[in-house]
Amino acid sequence: MTELKNDLLLKALRGESVERPPVWMMRQAGRYLPDYIKLREKYDFFTRVQTPELATEITLQPIDQVGVDAAIIFSDILVIPQAMGVEVLMEEGKGPSLPRTIKTQEDIDNLITTGVEESLGYMYAALNLTKKELNGRVPLIGFAGAPWTILCYMVEGKGSKTWDKAKQFAYTQPALAHQLLQKITDITILYLIEQVKAGADTVQVFDSWAGSLSPADFKIYAQPYLFQIATALKPYAPVILFPKGSWYALEDITGSDASGVGIDWCITPQMARQLTNNSITIQGNFDPAMLLAPIPEIKKAVTTMIDAFGPQRYIANLGHGITPNVPVDHARAFVDAVKSYSI
Ligand code: CP3
Repeated sequence: MTELKNDLLLKALRGESVERPPVWMMRQAGRYLPDYIKLREKYDFFTRVQTPELATEITLQPIDQVGVDAAIIFSDILVIPQAMGVEVLMEEGKGPSLPRTIKTQEDIDNLITTGVEESLGYMYAALNLTKKELNGRVPLIGFAGAPWTILCYMVEGKGSKTWDKAKQFAYTQPALAHQLLQKITDITILYLIEQVKAGADTVQVFDSWAGSLSPADFKIYAQPYLFQIATALKPYAPVILFPKGSWYALEDITGSDASGVGIDWCITPQMARQLTNNSITIQGNFDPAMLLAPIPEIKKAVTTMIDAFGPQRYIANLGHGITPNVPVDHARAFVDAVKSYSI
């Protein structure tokens, strides 16, 4: 195995001291990069995801062009429902749609639940190839969607501001919701373990729509499944949980088997440190829209952010994914500002 030349991310996750915080950006591979847009014109979304050479090329673009301290494999959280036999369409500019939504016990019984992790072989091939091409430059991050967020898409059938159909399903048929959440959890655990075996140095679980739940419902429909994943993966690799919007869960998450927790920009660094008692690595929480500010403002805001979190047990990142309208030199300014932070 090639030794990592830059292991800042893994050091931060282990709580070891670093000379500066590591930096990467959620959704760093993709839409705002001109070279990605060129590939998008030639191949449809799932061809890009399922062809290891293309997924590797896209994964490496932000390493070469923006200089981040970690690579995140190019894929999507919706490959899990897809592998469970649910059709997923990705329409350019419109986002994902799943024409056959989950409504009944029969729908759940019809899902493919055995050997699912084996049908995702293209993902492991992409991780393997990316690991080889990285040649130890930076660590490689694997990922999956959290059970609640995957349920949201499987029940709702498309993106939503309120996720009211997904919540209606949970509130009217809680036993079915838990069955579905458990099936997704079991598959996700096997899938993430395979990702680690294929070369992922750490894995992140994206609970992008956790914030649609009340704190009480988060504890019922999201947290137990996130924690099962963290516990199961712990012997394999450090886990980062990102329950977007669920700042109130920080205290509980600190007591889980996760090594890191992602936060969005709606909580101050001071409050996040207080709730986590400085005993879990925090990742975040730059407002992605701030990347549209003038470059000197971005640089100032980055320094303020790191000062507020403190440079240890900290991973500089955005509070959610980078948006397609961010100029590449602004993304680079964000990364450079973290890299030039001196302790
Ligand atoms: O982070 C990375 O660079 C790796 C690639 C990655 C993609 N999707 C590629 C993608 C990752 C980590 C994801 C995760 C993902 N997918 C999440 C969780 C993170 C988050 O943003 O909350 C979610 C909710 C999805 C579901 C999804 N996929 C949506 C809502 C959309 C459409 C909106 C959008 O982001 O453009 C997608 C499509 C998608 N996934 C694109 C990319 C690059 C855009 C399609 C394209 O232009 O190629």
